[in-house]
Amino acid sequence: MPIERTFGIVKPDAVAKNAVGGVIDLIEKTGLKIVGLRLTQLSEPQARAFYAVHRERPFFGDLVRFMTSGPCVAMAIEGENAVTRYREVMGPTDSKKAPAGTIRNRYGTDIEKNAVHGSDAPETAKGELAFFFSGLDLA
Ligand code: RTP
Ligand code: MG
Repeated sequence: MPIERTFGIVKPDAVAKNAVGGVIDLIEKTGLKIVGLRLTQLSEPQARAFYAVHRERPFFGDLVRFMTSGPCVAMAIEGENAVTRYREVMGPTDSKKAPAGTIRNRYGTDIEKNAVHGSDAPETAKGELAFFFSGLDLA
């Protein structure tokens, strides 16, 4: 299985509850490696661009407000099958349905305030990593 990179965000709700370390701990315990890390606060245009795929969805305005509400932490994550393995440890979108042991179960609140983002495929991971990181910032 080739080594793959994926992209994650500790969203503003989880940063606000001091869960940055807790989220990273759950990721590292799966054996995945953090190879890039950056704290930033998204502007409204940046959040709209990052989630452009959802621009027609009814929740888009709320999502942009949420993602710009405070600082977030961008993560580059590496390992075998990293996209799928990171999504497994995140849990499903709706935190209320997330099983025990997942990040969203432990730190998320609901379907919107769900603690973390993760790329949904290797191709989207490439674009999202480039959106947040210069190559120089990655191990
Ligand atoms: P993400 O992209 O953030 O990793 O999450 P995901 O793949 O599990 O979920 P996605 O369908 O891509 O939705 C992106 C984010 O939009 C918010 N959302 N709100 N109010 C709602 O019904 C609703 N649905 C989604 C969540 O913050 C979700 O992670
Ligand atoms: Mg998604």
